[in-house]
Amino acid sequence: MDTDADKREKTAVRGFYEVWGPLYTRLRDLGRDDHEDKSVLIEMLAPFDNDTVLDVGTGPGAYALRVADRAADCQVVGIDLSPAFIDIACRRASERQMDNIEFKLGDIEDLGFADGQFSKVLCAGVLSVVGNREAAVAEMARVLRPGGRLAVREPVRSNGPLARFFASRSQESTASRIGSAVGLMFGHFSPDFMTGPELTALFDGGLFSEVTFTEHARDLVITATK
Ligand SMILES: C[S@@+](CC[C@H](N)C(=O)[O-])C[C@H]1O[C@@H](n2cnc3c(N)ncnc32)[C@H](O)[C@@H]1O
Repeated sequence: MDTDADKREKTAVRGFYEVWGPLYTRLRDLGRDDHEDKSVLIEMLAPFDNDTVLDVGTGPGAYALRVADRAADCQVVGIDLSPAFIDIACRRASERQMDNIEFKLGDIEDLGFADGQFSKVLCAGVLSVVGNREAAVAEMARVLRPGGRLAVREPVRSNGPLARFFASRSQESTASRIGSAVGLMFGHFSPDFMTGPELTALFDGGLFSEVTFTEHARDLVITATK
């Protein structure tokens, strides 16, 4: 059950992407990261064979669309808290006339799918902006079937002067809010980002076996088996 603070935080996330979602989508599509970086995470879940795949916090749907395009025999679902992103993702799927993918509103902390509904779950750049990260990881484990695979990619907070400055401000301060918004879009200095040990600790809870951590660029890629 969300507290009032959780509700405020989620309203802020929706509002942020209502404004910045189209620019974020353009940058994602334009950047070096489109082809090469997305492949890194997706390859961690390959090969695909009649899989049911969930992309959690799908944003404009880049990963989900890529998986659905690559594996026509898979059923792919992308969920996101932001209606603006779900609109963009649905539009892109329909432009490509894809029938093995759907996008819907959803919350990583309470996914609303049945236990074990998916054989693969992926999640890129979402845990940093989620209030209850332990609940988010537990939900992804819950909807995975036994033996199912999880792949997560998260930016690791840098240790540079900007990161240290923003991390030292109180969460409610204007400086911290600016660091969150700008850092989220453009850098690894957002105070929302976790350090490497904070990130790895999220997967220490015994929900998964075969957990691996791989550094890629300035991100950490985590794979795990349920
Ligand atoms: C940095 S974007 C990443 C989007 C996408 N995975 C990608 O890599 O392009 C973070 C996404 O997490 C979503 N998000 C934030 N909180 C969420 C929540 N509680 N449940 C589901 N999605 C959430 C945001 O709406 C946004 O689309």
